[in-house]
Amino acid sequence: MKKVTKAVFPVAGLGSRFLPATKASPKEMMPIVDKPLIQYAVEEAVAAGVTDLVFITGRSKRAIEDHFDKAYELETELEMRGKAELLKIVRETVPSHVKCIYIRQSEALGLGHAVLCAAPVVGDEPFAVLLADDLLDEREHEPVLKQMVDVYNYHRCSVLGVMNVEREQTRQYGIVSTERDSGAIQRVTGMVEKPKPEDAPSTQAVIGRYILTGRVFDHLRNLKPGAGGELQLTDAIAALLKEEAVLAYQFKGTRYDCGSKLGYLQATVELGLRHPEVGEGFARFLEERCEKCS
Ligand code: G1P
Repeated sequence: MKKVTKAVFPVAGLGSRFLPATKASPKEMMPIVDKPLIQYAVEEAVAAGVTDLVFITGRSKRAIEDHFDKAYELETELEMRGKAELLKIVRETVPSHVKCIYIRQSEALGLGHAVLCAAPVVGDEPFAVLLADDLLDEREHEPVLKQMVDVYNYHRCSVLGVMNVEREQTRQYGIVSTERDSGAIQRVTGMVEKPKPEDAPSTQAVIGRYILTGRVFDHLRNLKPGAGGELQLTDAIAALLKEEAVLAYQFKGTRYDCGSKLGYLQATVELGLRHPEVGEGFARFLEERCEKCS
């Protein structure tokens, strides 16, 4: 029985919605309180049992490699100053049993192309794809990718994380149609990338969490440009589901679209309020601030 041990992180995107912040540094390194977005996604993958992290990088993404690497000068400095707690934080960006692999996507041809770049490392194993823009806050539940790995381990087929969106928003997502209208786990019967609201087969949107079987690479290799002229992962999955079962899983938790300014701010407020160091002070500030508004 093949386990999900590899996760692919497509991180080559330009991050144009956050310019100028993303002019020289990757959008995945933008912090929510004190941790970069990519680290939230990595921690979610590691909590789901992933041991090999495959980053598909592009130009100006060196900071991501540095973040998960040893930081000799910084560590020596912190050691000399006796800052044990900070040293621990710096050393634990990724646990020692986890391997980081970097593959450069030389041309930005789309999400499907980015995932295909991982084929030499993943082979024919089942693997996860995590889009770090989508921050999944599970609160009292298990981390979302772990929930999906459990579904995979039981059903042994590809699993897509989905949630309901407003009909006007379908043009921002991959939209699935399913056998039934309700239920947390459903078989996918069709999938289309960014349909117009009037053409959308449903309002169930795929968020940036996928568990895919190695078979998807055959379809990624044969992709033709789809929505926006890009090679779309959605189109490869649409072809895959004609051959084998693909499930849609309504995850437990809240998704923040940190690829948008509003979602990013919402995540910052939510995680800021729960932060052990600043949470209380931040809550007081917000209360006072709201009193001024009313
Ligand atoms: C990508 C996928 C889309 C998915 C979305 C989730 O789109 O292509 O199918 O619904 O992520 O965030 P992007 O947001 O990169 O345009």
